[in-house]
Amino acid sequence: MRTDFDPAAMSRNEFYKLLTATVVPRPIAWVSTTSAHGTHNLAPHSFFTIASVAPPVVQFSSVGRKDTLHNVEATGQFVVNFAPEGLFEQINDTGTDFPHGVSEFEAAGIATEPSLRVKPPRVAASPVALECELHSTLRIGDGTVVFGRVVHAAVSEDVLVDGHPEISRLKPLSRLGKDEWAAVSGVREISRIRHADWRGPAGDR
Ligand SMILES: Cc1cc2nc3c(=O)[nH]c(=O)nc-3n(C[C@H](O)[C@H](O)[C@H](O)COP(=O)(O)O)c2cc1C
Repeated sequence: MRTDFDPAAMSRNEFYKLLTATVVPRPIAWVSTTSAHGTHNLAPHSFFTIASVAPPVVQFSSVGRKDTLHNVEATGQFVVNFAPEGLFEQINDTGTDFPHGVSEFEAAGIATEPSLRVKPPRVAASPVALECELHSTLRIGDGTVVFGRVVHAAVSEDVLVDGHPEISRLKPLSRLGKDEWAAVSGVREISRIRHADWRGPAGDR
């Protein structure tokens, strides 16, 4: 038995709660931008993923028109900072709806470091920074998807093993439904099966 949910018969908010509770876990892009006036802004976005590999393009969605979106449109640049477990409360602090013109870096006491290829700064304590040039935006309903071409990636040596980011060192945070967040645990490994090696469905082997 299943319970049916018809978005047409539900409020926006009710269906939003269902979507965000079932599209889980979502990685968090901690997006830094700089306004046309030079104020540095920082806000988490969990509607976030990879859009293209070549060229490397990442995407996040702004639901409504927020400072992050305004700044990206005004300057064409942003940085996706990795959201690690250790910065749980700081990340949440930067999701506060501070008035326009307030820098979340200052309000939440978050140290910056300069980016190499773009003007918005990195979060100094975040282990990965993807420096992006705006590729395009796409308006869908009450959201705007922002696509950014990654022009530089800066990864802390603390999380690299043999030159590759190691999940046990990265310790990513993700968003679930309600006010729930999650850490990664129980990592499992399995190789992709080539058709030449196919031995039937998993349950039958
Ligand atoms: C973990 C987390 C994830 C969030 N994800 C999104 C998101 O994907 N899209 C969005 O529009 N807002 C998201 N928000 C809310 C924004 O971060 C919040 O509205 C913030 O104040 C926007 O800041 P800004 O106006 O400086 O851009 C999220 C908040 C948190 C705490």
